Amino acid sequence: MKIRKAVIPVAGKGTRFLPASKEIPKEMIPIINKPMIHYAVMEAIEAGIEEILFITSEGKGSIEHYFKRNNKLEKFLKERGKDDLFEQIKTIGSSIEIQTIRQDEQLGLGHAISYAEEFTTGETFCVILGDDLILAETPVCAQLMSISNQYNNNAVIGVMEVANQDTDKYGIVDGIFLEGKKTLKMKKMVEKPSPDKAPTNLATPGRYILTNKIFDCLREIPRGVGGEYQLTDAINLLAERQDVYAHIFIGDRFDTGSIKGYLNATVEFALRNSETRDMMEEIIKDKVERYKL
Ligand code: UTP
Repeated sequence: MKIRKAVIPVAGKGTRFLPASKEIPKEMIPIINKPMIHYAVMEAIEAGIEEILFITSEGKGSIEHYFKRNNKLEKFLKERGKDDLFEQIKTIGSSIEIQTIRQDEQLGLGHAISYAEEFTTGETFCVILGDDLILAETPVCAQLMSISNQYNNNAVIGVMEVANQDTDKYGIVDGIFLEGKKTLKMKKMVEKPSPDKAPTNLATPGRYILTNKIFDCLREIPRGVGGEYQLTDAINLLAERQDVYAHIFIGDRFDTGSIKGYLNATVEFALRNSETRDMMEEIIKDKVERYKL
């Protein structure tokens, strides 16, 4: 069964990006010349997703606006012969159907996902967290979709290996490896275990394929860590009711929700782009020299 729908929650407060996020949604802060959310939407499009639901909150209107066509700007660019830019601007606003729904109160990621029930109309769907940017030849959600197809259209959690001492920064997956050693049948997810308690070093940045049964689980879980409804708790409940898999994806992940991850992504993206590579190289060399790094 083809997975056609993606849910992108963007309702969080983005406190790590204050004061900027007081007025600009964190997701609209650019890496080079594209807002973070642009990369998440491109990942969905490249994976063949046809419809996206943004779960938003107050003050996030610019995200919706960004993905709408801007006829005035398009006309201006066309008249000035700026065909490249014209195509780029047009494509952003026309290549996918986008809906939005407002999460009234920020009661956690699990709570945010529960708003997607009507949108998903019983289908298995993909969740992309826009502040985890992942550069990959095959979009990560496409990698997970093909594992879901292989295993009966069940839920699949994207995981990556992290250093043993870093397990307390992530949700960590426990499970049994299947053939190929890249996919596991998940037993449970543990939130931020200390290295001595972590069952594995397989961390869960924000990529999930979820079945519709997740909505029953989200209704049943109590508030968890931080008084929030945790998606992790709902996934653990789901794993008690149907098979849930975890898959080690191929790709480089940047935690752009944190300042360090954001800086890292900015430098890396600039170095990977032929138009900015020389500039970034010059800047880095100059800084190394000047500050004796
Ligand atoms: P984070 O834990 O990164 O929270 O949320 P945040 O508010 O975005 O950022 P900080 O930690 O305050 O800096 C993970 C994802 O879940 C979404 C966020 O938008 C982000 O994509 N989220 C979180 C919601 O949509 N609603 C919530 O109630 C909580």
